[in-house]
Amino acid sequence: MQQVKAVIARAEGAPVEIVTITVPDPGPGEAVVRVQACGVCHTDLHYREGGINDEFPFLLGHEASGIVEAVGPGVTEVEPGDFVVLNWRAVCGQCRACRRAEPWYCFNTHNAKQKMTLEDGTELTPALGIGAFAEKTLVAAGQCTKVDPSARPAAVGLLGCGVMAGIGAAVNTGGVTRGKSVAVIGCGGVGAAAIAGSALAGANPIIAVDIDAKKLATATRLGATHTVDSSATDPVAAIQELTGGFGADVVIEAVGRPETWKQAFYARDLAGTVVLVGVPTPQMRIPDLPLIDVFGRGGALKSSWYGDCLPSRDFPMLVDLYQRGKLDLDVFVSEEIALTDVEAAFNRMQRGEVLRSVVIL
Ligand code: APR
Ligand code: ZN
Ligand code: ZN
Repeated sequence: MQQVKAVIARAEGAPVEIVTITVPDPGPGEAVVRVQACGVCHTDLHYREGGINDEFPFLLGHEASGIVEAVGPGVTEVEPGDFVVLNWRAVCGQCRACRRAEPWYCFNTHNAKQKMTLEDGTELTPALGIGAFAEKTLVAAGQCTKVDPSARPAAVGLLGCGVMAGIGAAVNTGGVTRGKSVAVIGCGGVGAAAIAGSALAGANPIIAVDIDAKKLATATRLGATHTVDSSATDPVAAIQELTGGFGADVVIEAVGRPETWKQAFYARDLAGTVVLVGVPTPQMRIPDLPLIDVFGRGGALKSSWYGDCLPSRDFPMLVDLYQRGKLDLDVFVSEEIALTDVEAAFNRMQRGEVLRSVVIL
């Protein structure tokens, strides 16, 4: 075992703390990773606010890349020295989703069996089974996805959560392909990634909708062909107008609110697809949606968990596209910060000032 510095949330709503934690040596099927970069995501804040569960203290951080330091018995997929992006979908191969050849829905994903602890032995709950606001972390070996070691750690680590969620919402869940019309409502880190994914797939037009002009400017840089400021313009009418009066083939909701989901629903063409990738709270309701509109418009109303990604398939491919200049991941790194800056980064994230703050270790 070894002692390292890490960021934890000790109690609901309390500011995060930097503490010393104990990381066990890897057991069977486990790996210890020396973290190089880890993005700050809304889910880290949700853990801290008690919005996910009450298994405090949480070891925060989960959008990370790093170098495998040690592996436990029986580990064959990675070895010490490998550069990896951490994932929270280490598929089991045996659950009902895996057995029907849909492993991106795996219902029984692997995490480390042993627990990291505080110095007094209190067990930590790692965010999304990762816990990477830490100099080193213990994960299941399957959570380590090898990628091109010459890639920039801060940029490719973001594929571990939000950026993958957005790209996958478009390409995997939404089935965006060449020539399809796409609208993305909400162009923060996740929505901007959905724009980038749609551009990669050859969609046209690609309509970015947000209430923040800065986010719309970034969306244009990532491949949006049109922008709509929905604080000033009705986004449903604007999307219809930009698509010959019909609506978009695929509309991606990346805010996580009933009113924006309803905009997505009505901004879609007949037989089109709505993808919900924004995460609602348990209290949210969709008021007054006529069932005849659900039936009469046909198509598909989908949710996207982690972009329906398969890390072993998607991470190395997307890193290669980044390395070849086809996918701009650097634009998502708004700032590089220290482990001591996570609380301040939560504030900037809530004020909408960043796509991602990334902790560099
Ligand atoms: N209409 C359009 N855009 C909106 C609206 C609205 N009514 N309200 C907020 N937005 C925009 C914000 O301006 C911001 O650009 O939505 C974007 C949200 O982005 P971020 O706060 O950066 O969040 P992000 O990391 O992209 O995650 C989006 O996905 O993973 C979930 O929990 C996450 O629900 C959140 C969503
Ligand atoms: Zn499975
Ligand atoms: Zn996340």
